[in-house]
Amino acid sequence: MRFHLKKTIQVVVVIGCVLVYINVYLSTKSFWTLNWTSEPNQRAPRKNDVPSTTRESLHPEVYPNTEHYTDDRIVSQLNFVPPSLSRQLQSGASSVKLRKILLYNGIGGWDIKRGQETFLDQKCKVPYCEITESKSDMQDAHVVLFQGPPRAGGNKPPHQNWLVFLLESPYHTPGLGSANGLVNWTASYRHDSTIVAPYEKFVAYNTSRLTQPQQKNYAAGKTKMVAWFVSNCGARNGRRQYADELAKYIQVDIYGGCGPLQCPRHESNKCFDMLNNDYKFYLSFENSNCRDYITEKFFINGLKHDVIPIVMGAAPEDYVRAAPPHSFIHVDEFESPKHLADYLHLLDKDDKLYNEYFQWKGTGDIINTFFWCRVCALAHDDDRGQSWYNDVEAWWRNSEVCIGTDNWRNRTKPNQLIADMPIVIPRK
Ligand SMILES: *[C@@H]1O[C@H](CO)[C@@H](O)[C@H](O)[C@H]1NC(C)=O
Ligand SMILES: *[C@@H]1O[C@H](CO)[C@@H](O)[C@H](O)[C@H]1NC(C)=O
Ligand SMILES: *[C@@H]1O[C@H](CO)[C@@H](O)[C@H](O)[C@H]1NC(C)=O
Repeated sequence: MRFHLKKTIQVVVVIGCVLVYINVYLSTKSFWTLNWTSEPNQRAPRKNDVPSTTRESLHPEVYPNTEHYTDDRIVSQLNFVPPSLSRQLQSGASSVKLRKILLYNGIGGWDIKRGQETFLDQKCKVPYCEITESKSDMQDAHVVLFQGPPRAGGNKPPHQNWLVFLLESPYHTPGLGSANGLVNWTASYRHDSTIVAPYEKFVAYNTSRLTQPQQKNYAAGKTKMVAWFVSNCGARNGRRQYADELAKYIQVDIYGGCGPLQCPRHESNKCFDMLNNDYKFYLSFENSNCRDYITEKFFINGLKHDVIPIVMGAAPEDYVRAAPPHSFIHVDEFESPKHLADYLHLLDKDDKLYNEYFQWKGTGDIINTFFWCRVCALAHDDDRGQSWYNDVEAWWRNSEVCIGTDNWRNRTKPNQLIADMPIVIPRK
């Protein structure tokens, strides 16, 4: 790996913090505006109304394509210097004109600076971009980022890429139907987005050493079983009902707005100490069962502490892709909450089995995925030709993406792209 892992780890997860910030903002918002009675823009997938997947022949490791379906391409994008840019750089960096990235919904909440500074500060491999939020840059911007469906009228210059950034699951995002045919790139936690922006990303230091002996017995001194910190009980996937059912067979302590116990957010260190010292398991339950939807509830509350995360949200294979080996328990591995409880009791009685879930500790870390560096690199790729999503709504929200209260065991794993990949017309 040419990508400097150490350096990356040192610079603390800027994007992660931004995402968490926006997430907190959006989730408070969606709490108030959530419409429980109707599925937002749910519809059956229309297999035949969009051109079939176009194979990306140029830089398959950088753009979403069927061959790299399991790969989030983040590391490749961080290393990507577009050939058109390399040619310019041969005549010196001073000949490279900065490309504008326009934040259509403003810079607020992003924790980045206007101009080129962000790209220089983050030591991007391709730093030749500037951030603007001025609509007067609408004509000459190379990338226009929208948080949600684009609502910009007027002419769209052919060199311009409209980038839609999505942070929440499809249940909590507005319809994109009005954007069909207009979106060139997507950015979201979905691993088949143009620019994948996961909540967090775990990377092993050395891919041939995924486990190591631990100095510690993670079961020692623990007297309690399952904890859950949750402020908003209800959710589309019935997580509360599942937890209540589980609680019939094993101790489940619910802290926060949803349960009888309190551990205030401003004392989060105390809460997490309690988790580390007293509890064996933690419910990392997302609010939506949707492909790839894995948030800091898993990475931070779960993996970063000395508990085994029990997960509900994305499909088991999505967690396998995002997590260290043997680091979590997926609810859909079990027929029912009772079966899960039986297994947890088994782990509780057998410290050796319990500790196997911690063998990955110390073999890697959560990295900064330098979102803006990757946007800038792609903004300089003039060789790709034209690309856009004919039906971005179908890509984001077709019937395979979110499964309501169903479980993933009933679903077949898609070994093809989920659906509706962008069209690419290569440059002549
Ligand atoms: C990675 O781990 C393998 C197996 O333990 C070892 O042989 C190799 O030298 C390690 N590579 C690096 C770069 O440390
Ligand atoms: C962006 O999408 C439009 C269609 O909305 C297309 O005409 C244009 O060529 C695309 N731009 C690039 C740079 O691919
Ligand atoms: C999914 O599988 C479970 C059994 O594991 C079954 O009870 C349930 O009805 C199935 N749901 C659907 C929608 O097929």
